[in-house]
Amino acid sequence: MKGSFIMMVVVVVSLLNCYVECEGCLEEEKSLLLQLKSSLNRSIESSVALSDWAGQNCCEWGGVSCSNTTSRVFKLLLGTVGQEGPDVLNSKESVNILAQFKELQYLVLSGNRMGGSDILQAFCKMHHLKLLLLYSTSLEGKIPHCIRKMHSLQVLNLAGNQLQGNIPLSTFSDMHLLQELDLSGNQLQGIISPFTFSNMHSLQKLDLSENQLQEIISPSTFNNLTMLTDLSLSNNHFVGTIPFSMFANLSKLVSLDLSNNYQLEVETESPNWVPHFRLTNLNLANCKLNRLSGSIVPSFLSTQHTLKFLDLSNSSLAGYIPSYLLYNSTQRLVLRRNSLSGPFPLPHQNTTSLLTALDISNNLVNGSLPENFVDLFPLLVYCDMSANALQGNLPPKMGIGNLQFLSLSDNRFYGEMPPGLMKCINMGYLVLSNNRLQGEMLPGNVSMEGLVCLELDGNEFTTPPNISKTPYLVILNIRNNHLSGNISLGCLCISI
Ligand SMILES: *[C@@H]1O[C@H](CO)[C@@H](O)[C@H](O)[C@H]1NC(C)=O
Ligand SMILES: *[C@@H]1O[C@H](CO)[C@@H](O)[C@H](O)[C@H]1NC(C)=O
Ligand SMILES: *[C@@H]1O[C@H](CO)[C@@H](O)[C@H](O)[C@H]1NC(C)=O
Ligand SMILES: *[C@@H]1O[C@H](CO)[C@@H](O)[C@H](O)[C@H]1NC(C)=O
Ligand SMILES: *[C@@H]1O[C@H](CO)[C@@H](O)[C@H](O)[C@H]1NC(C)=O
Ligand SMILES: *[C@@H]1O[C@H](CO)[C@@H](O)[C@H](O)[C@H]1NC(C)=O
Ligand SMILES: *[C@@H]1O[C@H](CO)[C@@H](O)[C@H](O)[C@H]1NC(C)=O
Ligand SMILES: *[C@@H]1O[C@H](CO)[C@@H](O)[C@H](O)[C@H]1NC(C)=O
Ligand SMILES: *[C@@H]1O[C@H](CO)[C@@H](O)[C@H](O)[C@H]1NC(C)=O
Ligand SMILES: *[C@@H]1O[C@H](CO)[C@@H](O)[C@H](O)[C@H]1NC(C)=O
Ligand SMILES: *[C@@H]1O[C@H](CO)[C@@H](O)[C@H](O)[C@H]1NC(C)=O
Repeated sequence: MKGSFIMMVVVVVSLLNCYVECEGCLEEEKSLLLQLKSSLNRSIESSVALSDWAGQNCCEWGGVSCSNTTSRVFKLLLGTVGQEGPDVLNSKESVNILAQFKELQYLVLSGNRMGGSDILQAFCKMHHLKLLLLYSTSLEGKIPHCIRKMHSLQVLNLAGNQLQGNIPLSTFSDMHLLQELDLSGNQLQGIISPFTFSNMHSLQKLDLSENQLQEIISPSTFNNLTMLTDLSLSNNHFVGTIPFSMFANLSKLVSLDLSNNYQLEVETESPNWVPHFRLTNLNLANCKLNRLSGSIVPSFLSTQHTLKFLDLSNSSLAGYIPSYLLYNSTQRLVLRRNSLSGPFPLPHQNTTSLLTALDISNNLVNGSLPENFVDLFPLLVYCDMSANALQGNLPPKMGIGNLQFLSLSDNRFYGEMPPGLMKCINMGYLVLSNNRLQGEMLPGNVSMEGLVCLELDGNEFTTPPNISKTPYLVILNIRNNHLSGNISLGCLCISI
């Protein structure tokens, strides 16, 4: 009895609540929302959110959130990413309606097609906006100078559009509150200078990747971005030489991507500098590293004990591979396509590697692999050491564990298939082409049940593989061996 009384009080109170708050949707803003709805060129069938824009309380309509205190709309989530076909925002008309919401702070329109080259200008009036996501909205033309007036912005995403021209100087530089700026995937050109982002003291994430930017004009370009954690300049057309020390004082930096700037030369060894950052991700693939200092692997990496991902592929490196890259914190290491030489690096202490992926293919690494390879790399899933000068027997336990991809092709390995490989139930891709391996390819009593691709061509094997226990095999290449005998095959594409 007492229980149901309390229950009733709760119901009455929450009804009252609802009377005061749910009614909250202001007529004025409801009418704006309905205008917006009719300005959007989207078919009702493809629209999940807009079809339920009906009923009294517009604060409960899909994608709409109102303030608890003033009942005004403060959040509009109208992005179409993940929904059916794109919608057409009837450009200026829609944006002008949006500009009339007095407390709108969060606006997401990503994925909607917005025609017109000066449409972005229409947003500049929205001084209250804290977050504006216009990812993939077919924006064209230049970045308008008036963007600087949106001084409350914390997150601005204009990625995946067709914006052109320079990043205008002093347009972003005074946006003191901006924490994330994403301009990636446009056609922006020209230079970045110290004045492009000079006073953005809150900026944490800056993504300028996939544009056509040409030059970083000064080593002090990013000096004032002291809060920066993530910086991507990848896939641009940068030329010239930059000293890596230009990032030295960015003490919060954890992720840096300069990759795929084929003409960019990066000097890490001089002038003398001390890194104040602790990176977890570094991608310098397809840049030219240390032309002026013997093309060595950047020595500051020995101070980066939190590095998890490192890609230095195709970056003109020579010299030995430092052992700490394999046995300290790194989980994914890509050194593909350089001129790195010397023996396979061994650990200095009794330690095991945390690597899950290792790619040192297309280098000049020589000597043999350590016998206890599997004990040193217990977590390895992906391993590509093809096209080096490695020799000797394959380590006896090679393949035991988690390994799913192993390529050792184009080396000088000899001897028989190691027993470890025969017990590798996780292996999907096994590529040992062009070595001097002998004996039996794959005995009938082994079970490599996950095998999808087996390439053993260009060796000295004498007995063909028994593939009766490899139901998923689709690629089998055993050409150029010393085979005799018969192979019984199902419906496989094979080359002998
Ligand atoms: C609205 O979409 C239809 C069909 O996609 C198209 O024919 C029409 O031109 C569009 N109207 C506007 C104003 O974009
Ligand atoms: C508004 O109400 C929601 C749900 O009751 C609550 O999570 C949120 O913190 C409130 N916001 C403000 C600004 O009071
Ligand atoms: C960097 O910030 C300092 C202090 O706010 C300022 O004096 C300087 O002009 C800024 N640098 C640039 C290139 O704007
Ligand atoms: C880093 O900051 C220190 C002290 O503020 C300064 O002396 C040094 O020149 C800066 N280093 C770089 C590479 O800008
Ligand atoms: C490696 O870099 C050179 C330029 O240094 C470029 O021409 C080449 O295409 C790159 N190779 C790959 C596979 O990306
Ligand atoms: C990496 O090296 C540093 C310095 O030698 C050491 O303090 C740290 O424990 C090492 N981390 C791992 C995971 O081995
Ligand atoms: C290395 O460490 C492992 C486990 O921590 C231990 O079993 C082994 O005896 C050690 N080997 C040497 C040579 O210290
Ligand atoms: C590996 O190559 C170096 C030259 O880069 C050579 O001095 C060394 O003898 C080679 N080692 C083996 C085992 O072939
Ligand atoms: C392949 O191995 C199985 C046993 O796993 C055996 O029954 C079969 O005869 C072998 N096939 C050939 C062609 O050796
Ligand atoms: C397969 O059989 C041979 C003897 O025919 C034996 O030496 C080998 O250990 C067996 N391999 C496995 C993986 O059981
Ligand atoms: C290969 O197959 C042919 C025809 O079936 C048979 O005569 C021959 O003995 C077989 N050879 C071997 C080594 O099994």
